[in-house]
Amino acid sequence: MCADKNMLNSFDPEKSNSLSDEDQTLLKKRQQLLSPSYRLFYDNPLHLVKGEGVWLYDNQGNRYLDTYNNVVSVGHANPKVVEAIASQAAQLNTHTRYLHHGIVDYAEKLLATFPSPLSQVLFTCTGSEANDVALRVARFHTKGTGIIVTKLAYHGVTAAVSEVSPSLGESVPLHHGVRTVNAPDVYRNTPQQAEEQFLSEIKAAIKDMRRHGIKPAALLVDTLFTSDGIYSHPVGILAKAAELIQEAGGLFIADEVQAGFGRSGEQMWGFQRHNLVPDIVTMGKPMANGHPVAAVVAKPEILEAFGKESRYFNTFGGNPVSCAAAMATLEYIESENLLSRVSAVGERMRQGFNSLAQDFELIGDVRGAGSFVGVELVLDREQKTPAKAETGRFVNMMREQGVLLSATGTLGNVLKIRPPLVFEEEHVDILIDKARQVFSSL
Ligand SMILES: Cc1ncc(COP(=O)(O)O)c(C=O)c1O
Repeated sequence: MCADKNMLNSFDPEKSNSLSDEDQTLLKKRQQLLSPSYRLFYDNPLHLVKGEGVWLYDNQGNRYLDTYNNVVSVGHANPKVVEAIASQAAQLNTHTRYLHHGIVDYAEKLLATFPSPLSQVLFTCTGSEANDVALRVARFHTKGTGIIVTKLAYHGVTAAVSEVSPSLGESVPLHHGVRTVNAPDVYRNTPQQAEEQFLSEIKAAIKDMRRHGIKPAALLVDTLFTSDGIYSHPVGILAKAAELIQEAGGLFIADEVQAGFGRSGEQMWGFQRHNLVPDIVTMGKPMANGHPVAAVVAKPEILEAFGKESRYFNTFGGNPVSCAAAMATLEYIESENLLSRVSAVGERMRQGFNSLAQDFELIGDVRGAGSFVGVELVLDREQKTPAKAETGRFVNMMREQGVLLSATGTLGNVLKIRPPLVFEEEHVDILIDKARQVFSSL
């Protein structure tokens, strides 16, 4: 086992010498029993035993500020979600083949967060499955097979979805109908250049598909380009991109697994920042605060023929317990008015890193939207040479200081920060304070 060259912040056993005897034993057993597919985070892996709000606790009782967990958006072990899961599990758990109020009530509540043409839902258990179904629907509806994704896109792990996820690395083959485009990098280009390049690469991809006899089916985009390096601007760029694929007969699929459920600002969905209505939207991760449920939302005309002619049923997707957990999560977001403060907290994080940038040359760019923050580290601001090794060291040194975050990007030099939505000003101040200490000693 060694560190994974395709995954940033993955544990390399060669580097670890500080694990306790208990954790060494656990690690050995894990290596023996689990598939080698599994990776651990950090040079010094964490053995977590408890979570509460924005805090995680290890087996030694140490507390860590979780600035990386976008799954538990309403906080670790949120009591309302825990209670919803427990009481529904104690009552009944079946599947979507029986009439049940909880399933339909949740569908209604979820769909009310979407602009009106997006008015039907299919439930799955994971974001990968949601994207897998979205691909099936898009290909069925358009009769095409061509899919455009970004250069370092990650959309999941099923056989079909891994074929549209270049970030899995060179040994995972892409589908022959896949074309990749660069995400709009507004750090290395002006916003106008980034937009022109992004749109012209989409046009070229469509042209190239046609030249090879491939009919375009979809442009599939993570609406914050989180694996490519976190690009939230220029606002409106995705509306123009959607027009291009739709003119070519394909669909625009917004992957909201990362950006959705309020992560990207005052609005619930990342695509809303760009003022567009996708044909299909996929979502997952934070949907039920850690309970495995995900979904595909689409325009009814797109689901019509697929629903009648191409079978889809998912044993666990959208079961009553999952819907209760998802309902409690959405209700919590609303009752605590979380969306109204996501941007303010995110802005405070960005301002904090911008003020650190005055003292630390290593910080080249601070970006993002809502409470998704990217901080690009460079060796020199003139050439913008990526500081990949320093990024890795920073992530690990922060972990030693009790703050969890990670890294992303095509160049491996962007700090990725996306705390639970219940993150507050006082937590931002701890993050920035610890970051200052670590930058000072890097
Ligand atoms: C943008 C995006 N899409 C899809 C997925 C896959 O979701 P899951 O891990 O639930 O299968 C992920 C997971 O990280 C993701 O980030």
